[in-house]
Amino acid sequence: MVALATIAGLPSAIAAPPASAVSPPAAPASAPYLNKWLPVSTRVDDLLGRMTLEEKVGQMTQAERGAVDGDRDQITELKLGSVLSGGGSVPAENTPEGWADMVDAYQSKALATRLRIPLLYGIDSVHGHNNLVGATVFPHNIAMGATRNPRLVRETQEITAKETRATGPQWSFAPCVCVVRDLRWGRAYESYGEDPKLVTKMETGIEGLQGRHRRDLKSPEHVLATVKHYAGDGDTVFGSSTTDGYTLDQGVTVTDRRTFMKTNVAPYVTAVRKHDVGSIMPSFSSVDWKEDGVGNPLKMHAHKELLTGVLKGEIGFDGFLISDWAAIQQIPGDYATQVRTSVNAGVDMFMEPNTAPQFVETLLAEVRAGRVTMSRIDDAVGRILKAKFELGLFERPYTDRRHAGTIGSPAHREVARRAVAESQVLLKNSRRALPLKRGEDIYVAGVNADDMGNQAGGWTVTWQGQSGDIIPGTTILEGIEQYSRNVTYSEDASAPTSGSDVGVVVVGETPYAEGVGDVGNGHTLNLSDADKANIDKVCGAIETCVVVDVAGRPQIVTDRLPEMDAFVMSWLPGSEGAGVADVLFGKRPFTGRLPVTWPRSEDQEPINIGDRDYDPLFPYGHGLRTRR
Ligand code: BGC
Ligand code: BGC
Repeated sequence: MVALATIAGLPSAIAAPPASAVSPPAAPASAPYLNKWLPVSTRVDDLLGRMTLEEKVGQMTQAERGAVDGDRDQITELKLGSVLSGGGSVPAENTPEGWADMVDAYQSKALATRLRIPLLYGIDSVHGHNNLVGATVFPHNIAMGATRNPRLVRETQEITAKETRATGPQWSFAPCVCVVRDLRWGRAYESYGEDPKLVTKMETGIEGLQGRHRRDLKSPEHVLATVKHYAGDGDTVFGSSTTDGYTLDQGVTVTDRRTFMKTNVAPYVTAVRKHDVGSIMPSFSSVDWKEDGVGNPLKMHAHKELLTGVLKGEIGFDGFLISDWAAIQQIPGDYATQVRTSVNAGVDMFMEPNTAPQFVETLLAEVRAGRVTMSRIDDAVGRILKAKFELGLFERPYTDRRHAGTIGSPAHREVARRAVAESQVLLKNSRRALPLKRGEDIYVAGVNADDMGNQAGGWTVTWQGQSGDIIPGTTILEGIEQYSRNVTYSEDASAPTSGSDVGVVVVGETPYAEGVGDVGNGHTLNLSDADKANIDKVCGAIETCVVVDVAGRPQIVTDRLPEMDAFVMSWLPGSEGAGVADVLFGKRPFTGRLPVTWPRSEDQEPINIGDRDYDPLFPYGHGLRTRR
């Protein structure tokens, strides 16, 4: 028996699963679904025809690693289709081997079921295999949007896929194809930009993860991708979130159908039709249609019109829908209602991190009561099995570790360093302050100059990310030191400035993820007092002054801009801070362009290209160039 957590509306006791003696016999080795030469659809149909209702419901269920780790037999007993690692949910040994051993141990439990259906292991590799210490950590998506380079995005995602799959997980909950329309959103950095056309252009990352053809999924270099969060997650109204402490995240998108399709759904059309994405995650947020009168927000996880009608119907999505973290529990009503509503709306697999046993029990009861049809169940399970066959999991369920040696390798880090360099946006450059000259005496100030955790941001080793020396790599300061032997570093600019030719002040944010980073609950777009003081001190004392912003989104610099000779947006570069130094010193040119509008003040948000009375500090697309 499995342990039960308590959630509202759940049956308090759950009957023991039927004894294995009652189950039908295991499939013979000659069963068509075990024959790798047969077409996937034939194998799916054959397997579906052999499965009991319990086995089907199990396939639709995803539990969190931490919930099954202590009692791994749950995977067998509940016949789980999938396990995930939430942000920071890592094995005791956070090494490639530790990961692969853990995933393989879970896999053996799935293979102990009657039909030996392999487990799918999912993880958020959102800027590299970021839960693994030692992985190559790339800039977050907003920075990749600044590169305007879809080939580079594909390349970074190829590396991410390779590093991820070599450690076990065959599925990443990425890329986010959210269109950020309000920078106060804590997930702004997960977006490629505010223009749906830019986001769509950057979807080459899907091919980087999955490969160009479905058959590439079998290779140890690729993983199944997920575009998320369908749809409207970046376009919610400030203050509309009902989640504690959040203002925008998980809130309500108030819109009309036409605008919604153009702004928020468009990236999904491309993800499905052009890149053949394998899975899609609905959004925590709700949609409230203007043409229906506003006032009736409907959670995306309950939105049959948008999930089944638009996505699976009109757009033709034939992969599967994975619910977000316990998101169905935000649908009004008791648990049975939440389960029934979401499955009938079109959700296929359910991320119920800590309540998988209750989910299984509840869905079984709903089907038996006739409130969920068998054809809906078969449709959901068929979609999930299709992915498992395409990934080659029936033939090779265990981790193919052959590429583990490439994790965090110099070759991979070199691509990340290039991505960092291409993502830097030069917003101001007066008196030719940049590029810096190698012989100059350089004075560096600001915590973010030398903080690996801060430059990597959220979703790095842990969900929220963390300041400090949390992963191997190069900080921005270490990058600068590769170019100059005369560097003085003073975090708070207290060291004497005399004799310095150039001051580099690195300002920015500390890590956060999701709604925790929403402006309004302690977070702000304004610079910290310490950062302002550093700018004032250094720019006041040293002839040439360069300010570098290490943050997930534009910060308000309007009143300090006149003091700066040069201003660079670095975003969240990840593990290779040397890429920042490469452009500062002119080894590579500045070519990045703003993927979002830079506001003059916090209360100018939301402000986006195309708005009436558009008067930002820097417009969308701004970015000065330098030569090599
Ligand atoms: C996030 C998703 C993520 C999931 C699993 C959720 O809170 O919204 O983006 O994939 O957790 O970690
Ligand atoms: C997990 C994340 C998840 C979040 C949702 C965290 O505990 O680590 O993966 O997105 O919870 O609230």
